[in-house]
Amino acid sequence: MKLIQTVKELRSELDGLRKAGKTIGLVPTMGALHAGHASLVKRAVAENDVVVVSDFVNPTQFNDKNDLLKYPRTLEADCALLEACGAAFVFAPSVEEMYPEPDTRQFSYAPLDTVMEGKYRPGHFNGVCQVVSKLFLIVEPTRAYFGEKDFQQLAVIREMVRRYPFPIEIVGCPIVREVDGLALSSRNTRLSAEQREQALQISQTLFASVEYSKTHTVAETRLYVESRIARSEGLRLEYFEIVDGNTLQTVNGWDETEYIVGCITVFCGEVRLIDNIKYRG
Ligand code: PAF
Repeated sequence: MKLIQTVKELRSELDGLRKAGKTIGLVPTMGALHAGHASLVKRAVAENDVVVVSDFVNPTQFNDKNDLLKYPRTLEADCALLEACGAAFVFAPSVEEMYPEPDTRQFSYAPLDTVMEGKYRPGHFNGVCQVVSKLFLIVEPTRAYFGEKDFQQLAVIREMVRRYPFPIEIVGCPIVREVDGLALSSRNTRLSAEQREQALQISQTLFASVEYSKTHTVAETRLYVESRIARSEGLRLEYFEIVDGNTLQTVNGWDETEYIVGCITVFCGEVRLIDNIKYRG
């Protein structure tokens, strides 16, 4: 496995492989890798001749400077995990390398990117699209892999690929959870032991709400989740929405569409955690 820090070097490594007809899988990450990332990389390795993993904390997608500063950075450990997963290249550029000048491009996919995360983190998806589109232009992958935990991000990226258009297959991969149900996230490392225990209520509430939804309306199910989180010590709900899994617009009845997902964001102390669950489809 090779660690590469410049666009020029990565392109020259990949050009030859592409000319030789090799398929290239890309797994974009911000590092601080865990078993969830490992599952994306392993799938990419199984489905492509060569796999590139980007490891770059993208400043343009953080609307909160404190969150950016506190984002864990663990390149050495990341490389060990990626080597074990079979990645061929780790691309870990500096901010100057990715953004030699400020990126002024605007990506707007309303209403997909204006609800939920888009509402609470203005500019976030613009930054995600800036960096992901740059990675697509640099790597020119055959396929790119994203986790379904960032459900809205996956929908926005699919839309960007459709509209750009990029000749890339986007592969969504299932959420990986701890045995007790907590969705894996790089941010989990910032939880104290007590907060880790409290955070468990997020997935437990979502799981219980699936059962509840079978005999209750959408409004009742929303209320069930909101009030259970409100009663949970140490947690503060930012939003919980029950949406059409394709359009991300709020649904009011279970029969409105075939694919329905609940998306939640909760603060545990100052750590912002997201999760989602499928109700229908
Ligand atoms: O999901 C993430 O880790 C990031 O948003 C991504 C896709 C790597 C872009 O920086």
